[in-house]
Amino acid sequence: MKDPTVTYRKRTPTSQKFWQKAQRLIPGGITANVKHYNPYPIFMKKAKGSKLYDVDGNQYIDYCLCYGPLILGHGHPAVTEAIKKQLHQGGTTVYGTPNEIETKMAKKIKQDVPCAKMTRFTNSGLEATLHAIRTARAYTKREKIAKFEGHYHGAHDSVTISITPPLNQAGPNHTPTPVPNSAGLPNHILQNTLVLPFNDLPSTEKIIKKNRNELAAIILEPVARGFIAPDKEFLKGLRTITQENEIVLIFDEVMTGFRLGLGGAQEHFGVIPDMVALGKIVGGGLPAGVFAGKAEIMAVMSPVGSKHPYDHLFHSGTFSGCPTVLAAGLATIEVLEKPGVYNHINWVAEEVKKCMNNVFEDYNIAAQATGVGSMFQCLFTSQKQIRNYRDTAKADAQKRVNFDLELINRGVYVRPGKPFYTSLAHTKADLNKTFDAIKEAIKTVAK
Ligand SMILES: Cc1ncc(COP(=O)(O)O)c(C=O)c1O
Repeated sequence: MKDPTVTYRKRTPTSQKFWQKAQRLIPGGITANVKHYNPYPIFMKKAKGSKLYDVDGNQYIDYCLCYGPLILGHGHPAVTEAIKKQLHQGGTTVYGTPNEIETKMAKKIKQDVPCAKMTRFTNSGLEATLHAIRTARAYTKREKIAKFEGHYHGAHDSVTISITPPLNQAGPNHTPTPVPNSAGLPNHILQNTLVLPFNDLPSTEKIIKKNRNELAAIILEPVARGFIAPDKEFLKGLRTITQENEIVLIFDEVMTGFRLGLGGAQEHFGVIPDMVALGKIVGGGLPAGVFAGKAEIMAVMSPVGSKHPYDHLFHSGTFSGCPTVLAAGLATIEVLEKPGVYNHINWVAEEVKKCMNNVFEDYNIAAQATGVGSMFQCLFTSQKQIRNYRDTAKADAQKRVNFDLELINRGVYVRPGKPFYTSLAHTKADLNKTFDAIKEAIKTVAK
């Protein structure tokens, strides 16, 4: 097979130069580890609609969309206008005091997201899951939590476990061993975070029952990594067990929130958790997060009427509820509310998936494009049904990266190895170009 990095390097010499310079000041030359891949990441300098433009003047159809938030594409006029209007009318970026737009957004979230009766704002999805977990601990007065193997909730200590564990360390299928996913994690988190097997209700139930008196919360991505759907009965079963044992069920909808529909995965699958973490789309392309839930649970953080600073939960954040961010988020949601918008975004994803799957079949390649709504993943594996992390870990990751680099060389951008996301800005013309790129890219990978 031809080495795709040869063409990649030829097309992107300025990115390589910028990356080398950045490495002298920024560890790895990147500000989030996910942004690194071999041979080096591309530096972008402009974007509009469905397109990204790099520092060498190459144009790309963007299927990364900043890992999901840009559901309307880059620089949608409704969003940029809302930001400008807020800046103009507000006269500043942030007030550092309560503001009316916070209540407006909390009301919108309450209308759209079934479990979100009360809301607090954060600056990222990571903070949203961190505070949701702390809230559950304060509410139940229990310490342990459980997460599912392969699920990502941001890089804070109690959930940076078993996100991508090596299979030879991950333990038995039915009782996964907690594996730290980063250097620098304190040992005690391994005692307080249990790891559960996704889409395996009987084994999950056994572990929960064994720890029922110590478990504050169970957190999960209802669609694991944005593309592994839950079995029909799995979410319902999990809801029942957590209810029976008074454990707070947290849906991490940082990825699925406002992407699977206005009501996210909880509306899509008809299972309502106690709490939700949101992010990405809710900030309209600016940094944002939300944690929300039942009123009696969220009440643990209200200082109103409190006698002592330690008798309620502490949540803070200098920029939480930033009006500029919320204006962008509200404008995004208002566009998503228009008829036909989700149909278009999902249709684009279906078309790209269909093209990939047809091409894989034509070339007799053991691979599949699989996902839910407007998020999907491409896996080079002969495994027919992908039900959990372990199924994905057996796929040929290098083949996938080669495929992605071939796509990038043909003007289709995805972070190599990561899921694809679609947007309102993707057009029929984009699709035709993408189809051509897929057909050409697969020829070289198939060789
Ligand atoms: C499901 C999920 N939870 C939490 C996070 C963390 O969000 P952020 O990167 O905004 O901190 C992410 C980010 O990709 C995510 O996909």
